[in-house]
Formats: sequence, C-alpha cells, structure tokens
Amino acid sequence: MENLKIAIVTGAFGGIGTAIVKELIEEQCFVLAVASAKRTSADFDAWLNEHQINPTKVKPLFIDVTDQIACENALSDVIDSYGHVDILVNNAGITRDSTFKKMSASQWNEVINTNLNSLFNMTQPLFAQMCARKFGRIINISSVNGQKGQFGQANYSAAKAGMIGFSKALAYEGARANVTVNVVAPGYTETPMVAAMREDVLESIKAQVPMQRLATPLEVAQAVAYLASDKASYITGETLALNGGLYMQ
Ligand code: CAA
Repeated sequence: MENLKIAIVTGAFGGIGTAIVKELIEEQCFVLAVASAKRTSADFDAWLNEHQINPTKVKPLFIDVTDQIACENALSDVIDSYGHVDILVNNAGITRDSTFKKMSASQWNEVINTNLNSLFNMTQPLFAQMCARKFGRIINISSVNGQKGQFGQANYSAAKAGMIGFSKALAYEGARANVTVNVVAPGYTETPMVAAMREDVLESIKAQVPMQRLATPLEVAQAVAYLASDKASYITGETLALNGGLYMQ
C-alpha cells in the first residue's frame, strides 16, 4: 500500500468504469471502486472474476452517489482508513433519453442528480484534503454530447456540459495546491449504455464518425490514466476529447 496511490472511481462496474479501474491498477494505484448501494459483495466478487481484476488492489465502496450525506459519511471513513485520496474519477452516469417534449421531470432529475450533482457529493468531501496535501487529480467523465448537444438528450447534455464548467471553475481553486481538475469527453464507446441504444439511431451515428467506429473502453481509460499520471502535471481545466473526429472543437 505504501507506494500505491489511492484512487476512487465511481460507476466502477460499468463499461468505462471497469476499464478505468484496471488501467489505474496497472499504474500502481489502489482503487476504491464505487458502485451503487443496490449492489452487493457477491456482485463485486463476480465483477472481479469476470474482469480478472487483482483483488488485492481494489476494494468496493457501495454508495449512492446522489445521496450527499451518504457520500460525506463514506468518504470520511475512507480518509480515516487510508489517510488521504490522490485521485478521484467521477465516472458514474446514466441516460434517460427522450425528446424534450416527452421528457418527464423524473427523467430530468435522475440524470442531473446522478451525472452532475454527484460531482458535488463526491468531490466536496475530498477537495480540501487534497489541497492541504498539495496533491490531487480529479478527472470527470463527460461526453461528446455535453460538448455538442444531442437530439433526445437535453437532460444528459445539460449534465455533461455542467461537468465541464464545474471542472474549469474547480481547476482555478485547486491550481495553487497542485490539485488538477480535468475532463475526459468520450464519444460513442463500446459499452452496455451504447449497446442499449436503438439500432437504427446508433447505426446513423456511427456513420457520422470520421473514424467509422466506436471508442473502446480501454482507449478512454488510457486517457484517464494519463491525466492521473505525473506526465500530466501541468494540465488543468482541460477537456480531452476522444470521439473519433465526431466533434472537433
Ligand atoms: N435531428 C433532427 N431530427 C431528428 C433527429 C436528429 N438527430 N433524430 C430524430 N429526429 C426526428 C425524427 O426523424 C422524427 O421525426 P418525424 O416525427 O418527422 O418522423 C422525430 O425527430 C422523432 O424522432 P424519434 O423517432 O427518434 O423519436 P422517439 O421518441 O422514437 O425516440 C430518442 C427518441 C429515444 C431520443 C431517439 O431519438 C434516440 O435514441 N436518440 C439518440 C439519443 C442518443 O444519442 N443517445 C446516446 C446514448 S449513449 C450515451 O449517451 C453515451 C455518450 O456519452 C455518447
């Protein structure tokens, strides 16, 4: 544990989350894998097994990231147990796609709470400690659709764009303390979330991607690992897009 960085990854059991956990373990991290409070230790064991993850390098944290008090309590316990956290990856996210005309308040609120309010809940309890230690890497997983907007995703695009504004603002506050705050904005990636899309819609989007393929979770995870590493020590407030050319800013 001595030489390992302590990392927290939310949405750890998801497509991109799993790849991030594996990549951070490769980069000498001990990872606290945050999964929804509905998951169990049996789910964690099955996940380790399925993805061949070294069980000595990862522990589960079952937290509802939309529950501010639960996050505050769980992260206070983390600091008590591990002393500090070096890296926070806010990756948890959901979709509730619908044209805006048909979008319900619950579709709006669920997405804003999970994808955006979770950033407050997870980052606030750790940020002061990172500043005091003069080291921190905060990486927020946004989306190409937060950058360019997307038909049927007013809720998701709002949350994902909000993550970028949050990251730039916090980057100012962390800079003097060597706490960097960056965003990775993936395009359409080979995950269960994208696999759940309507086939015709996905096919039409794929056809618009200059690289003519989806991203792999590994490609996204490598960008996260880079921003978490010493190689990215002077990068803050930046958004690193991985979208195969779908949107060039
Ligand atoms: N631009 C303009 N018009 C469009 C359009 C577009 N991109 N897409 C559809 N329309 C039109 C349709 O042609 C249709 O017009 P008519 O009524 O004249 O036929 C009308 O808008 C309604 O469209 P749908 O039939 O698609 O409406 P629906 O209610 O059946 O489905 C939807 C709505 C579920 C949102 C569907 O449009 C959809 O799946 N959209 C894509 C959403 C998307 O990209 N999600 C990404 C999920 S993965 C993810 O989010 C990860 C990430 O970060 C990238």
